Amino acid sequence: MKRWSDDDQYADVEAYFSGRAELVVSVGRRLEPGDTVLDLACADGRLAEFLEAYGIGYQGLDTVPEMVEQARAHGIEAEVGDLNDYVPPEPVTATLCFRAIYYSRDRAAFFRHVAGYTTGKLVFDLNPRQYPLATIREELHAAGFARVDVRPLFAPQRVNLPRIAALALRTLERSGPLARLALRYRFTYVVAASL
Ligand SMILES: C[S@@+](CC[C@H](N)C(=O)[O-])C[C@H]1O[C@@H](n2cnc3c(N)ncnc32)[C@H](O)[C@@H]1O
Repeated sequence: MKRWSDDDQYADVEAYFSGRAELVVSVGRRLEPGDTVLDLACADGRLAEFLEAYGIGYQGLDTVPEMVEQARAHGIEAEVGDLNDYVPPEPVTATLCFRAIYYSRDRAAFFRHVAGYTTGKLVFDLNPRQYPLATIREELHAAGFARVDVRPLFAPQRVNLPRIAALALRTLERSGPLARLALRYRFTYVVAASL
């Protein structure tokens, strides 16, 4: 079986990507079967099968040709390109940008650019210690995104937690003030900016 390039980066690929797909579908404007996503900085397109399970069409984009070749070798539609200036041939319902928002040369311009070809929402993860959420909200509103929803994301990427610890983290994710306190020190948000 062909290996995926991110097999070494994620302790539990199934749990991590099925959780991410669920967030992509449910945070902000809900995605429905038949909707389409463009996954910016898609690497080998690992998210594709988890979104296709929801009936969502997937196309990926990455600057690295080897990544795009790997995605295609798994039957995933993907293109070589730069997220700063790529425009898909048709508008997409949702644009995703995970672990890659820092590749935008000018974030406010990037948000405007994405708003030009996205009909539903932009979804990305954000470290609030690196980029203040208030600034990000302002930039998204200025780019035309009317509604901004955020959800704490505590799923560990590199650590395979015992079931009980994973459950505790999921509970903390939904705990409101406690989750916001934890985010001062660790973890990320998933941000969904809807048009
Ligand atoms: C940390 S990986 C994240 C991959 C995937 N989104 C995930 O969450 O597992 C960053 C990816 O961004 C790609 N990348 C870097 N700069 C880019 C750019 N300007 N446009 C598109 N992709 C880029 C890299 O080739 C790499 O595959």
